[in-house]
Amino acid sequence: MRAYFGRRYMLSASHRLHSDVLSPEENRRAYGKCNNPFGHGHNYLLEVLVRGEVLPETGMVVDMVSLDKVIRSLVLNRFDHANLNTDALFVNQVPTTENLCRAVFNLLVNAVPSGRLETVRIEETENNFFECANPTEA
Ligand code: NI
Repeated sequence: MRAYFGRRYMLSASHRLHSDVLSPEENRRAYGKCNNPFGHGHNYLLEVLVRGEVLPETGMVVDMVSLDKVIRSLVLNRFDHANLNTDALFVNQVPTTENLCRAVFNLLVNAVPSGRLETVRIEETENNFFECANPTEA
């Protein structure tokens, strides 16, 4: 049996979508109003899914308090109420939800307290979400 534990976090941040390798016109075409020079904000909904055994001692897949600590220290403290464009991770990549999701996945993949990180999903708006999944079968 596969067992999963999922947890949601709110994350508010601003960004501007602009790629240095695209022309101004291509940037406007690719990102629309998200390319406006002053940026804009989102209330992201971050979902983390951990897969593992239900440990007999605790009856849990992962200790939620420890998981919260990891997410707070590695992700929320870094990105919440921040301008994503100024983060070192986004100096050379556009802070789209896709790239934010990949960044969060990479920050967490070796840090979950037990089990393994299965997916990171970020909802940017009611209609947009992106998901990264662990590529290894185990
Ligand atoms: Ni946006």
